[in-house]
Amino acid sequence: MVKMDFGMKNRLSKTLNPKTGRTVMLAVDHGYFQGPTTGLKKPKESIEPLIPYADSLFITRGILRNCIDPNTNIPIFLRVSGGPSVLKELSNEEITTSIKEALRLNAVGVGMSIFVGGEHETKSISNLGKLVNEAEEYGMPVLAITAVGKDMDRDARYIGLACRIAAEIGAHMVKTYYCEEDFEKVVEGCPVPIVIAGGKKIPEKDALQMAHDAISKGAKGVDMGRNIFQSDSPVGMIKAVRAIVQENKTVEEAYGIYESVKNGRYS
Ligand code: R5P
Repeated sequence: MVKMDFGMKNRLSKTLNPKTGRTVMLAVDHGYFQGPTTGLKKPKESIEPLIPYADSLFITRGILRNCIDPNTNIPIFLRVSGGPSVLKELSNEEITTSIKEALRLNAVGVGMSIFVGGEHETKSISNLGKLVNEAEEYGMPVLAITAVGKDMDRDARYIGLACRIAAEIGAHMVKTYYCEEDFEKVVEGCPVPIVIAGGKKIPEKDALQMAHDAISKGAKGVDMGRNIFQSDSPVGMIKAVRAIVQENKTVEEAYGIYESVKNGRYS
């Protein structure tokens, strides 16, 4: 691995737990193109109870400034890309938030989407390069998110292509989707840590199984949103995900944690 500067390494260590090398990032940035998403209509109320169980928050500056208590200790990864709403061509993103702003907000990292195979593929990948150029001047890690175009298959060939490109352009971490077949090949082909997004809400046990399988195939954690904040027990779910990622619990054990919290037997 490339020798990193102290600032870069120190910021990364705020989310990738140095003892386990893994992370539970809580993704709550969905409003940047979806507006008031189910489960995040009142961001402050939804996010605050989950903070004690997350290693970092993945969030936009607007929700950070308006809804998160500045006295919090939770490390912040800032979503810095956006532009099109869910009504338009999503790949047409620009950088929306400067590195200076990320520093002012005391972020430990910044993240943006790339759209491999999308209409504006070149622009998004070139923007990633520019963001890395600037972020590295300040020791700020960049998380690249491999957003999937409408007609793209989420298979290992596609995901592997997108993750590798993100790493080649200089991303320090990559967030992508999990695929059951050959996910370990995606990990093998990407020289920087991969975390998985949860995707659309699925049954709790299936989401825990996905987190478990991703970790066992080499992912360094999750950056999960809807499967946590849209659960009938968001606290139960984040505790269960954490048990898998940071404590190597089985899916059954983790599901037991979720059920206990949901049924009020365990706080
Ligand atoms: C898209 O809105 C963002 O990149 C999310 O942070 C990412 O998709 C993870 O959230 P979820 O687990 O809901 O897919």
